[in-house]
Amino acid sequence: MFTASESLIDHAITAPPGQSGARILEEMDIAYSDGLARDMAPLYERVKSVIPSVEWPFFAPYIKAINELKKEKNAVILAHNYQTPEIFHCIADVVGDSLQLAVEAAKAEGDMIVQCGVHFMAETSKLLNPEKTVLIPDMGAGCSLAESITAQDVRALREAYPGVPIVTYVNTSAAVKAESDVCCTSSNAVKIVNGMGSDRVLCIPDEYLAQNVAREADVDVIAWKGRCEVHELFTAEELQQYREDDPGLKIIAHPECKPDVLDEADFSGSTSAMIKWVTDNQPERVMMVTECSMSDNIAVENPKVNFVRPCNLCPHMKQITLPKVLEAMVLNRTEIIVDPEIADKARAAVERMIELSK
Ligand code: 13P
Ligand code: SF4
Repeated sequence: MFTASESLIDHAITAPPGQSGARILEEMDIAYSDGLARDMAPLYERVKSVIPSVEWPFFAPYIKAINELKKEKNAVILAHNYQTPEIFHCIADVVGDSLQLAVEAAKAEGDMIVQCGVHFMAETSKLLNPEKTVLIPDMGAGCSLAESITAQDVRALREAYPGVPIVTYVNTSAAVKAESDVCCTSSNAVKIVNGMGSDRVLCIPDEYLAQNVAREADVDVIAWKGRCEVHELFTAEELQQYREDDPGLKIIAHPECKPDVLDEADFSGSTSAMIKWVTDNQPERVMMVTECSMSDNIAVENPKVNFVRPCNLCPHMKQITLPKVLEAMVLNRTEIIVDPEIADKARAAVERMIELSK
């Protein structure tokens, strides 16, 4: 069982996240060598189309160390589809969209969950696993949607719209979820909104998701002014230009984009629905109108598909790196703690979503 030395722990207390990874590797006695390269060659063979060979000597020791520690600590790594390929393909036990990660978190075995994603995802995992240690490798991995609304805002909405059910996107804090009737994700929002049994529903905080849901739902949808800083950058004009330049191109978009962007798309759905569409349809050329790591991640399993990659990065998702994951597992940082009273109410909203989306 690996235990960090006191000097390493002292270093890690003051060093910024990610800066102690190399020292941990040294103490674990793991370095890139011919032997390690040989052992890990089958894994590299799988990902070589998306991880340049010059980067592999840096990644490989971290991947080995993290996979060893997972066994030692009985840990499970949950990774969102927007994580980089070395995380998505080489260390994750479960990958998926926000709904799949929540469902899998609810079933997670083991003592520790390491969330490779953003803070609200780790918080959702903690809500569903109050007894387990849930770690996020960088507390700074936030989300512009989660930051767009507070619990106080939700209480004000309830007062302004008495009796109107509040459906809250999972991209929110536990405190916001706790004030809501039920949660939703991009893969079940229409179903949940329709299932509220009301002719008016508040769908918060993503303005564009609410507008897109409103077009498919049978009820009036009231929105909030939150936006995803990644998806709001895409415009209908740029997609028209791509199509004009390449008439055979298939375009698929995430519902956090503006409605006129979705109008230009051949398909829209959650990140996992987008992956499934590409896998099922095997288009010759496709543009994924979403965060850019998605194309890299699915290119591995879809070698015949050419991806046109407009690159809008989520700076929050990209806070998660292999050195930070290694540090998280060795130093138990940073642990997600949710106030038990808030957690009980927030859990009820998430569990209701999981139940309604079955
Ligand atoms: P889904 O993976 O649920 O489609 O969500 C996308 C997203 O932006 C998560 O941050
Ligand atoms: Fe939030 Fe958008 Fe980043 Fe997802 S992609 S975490 S919605 S900012």
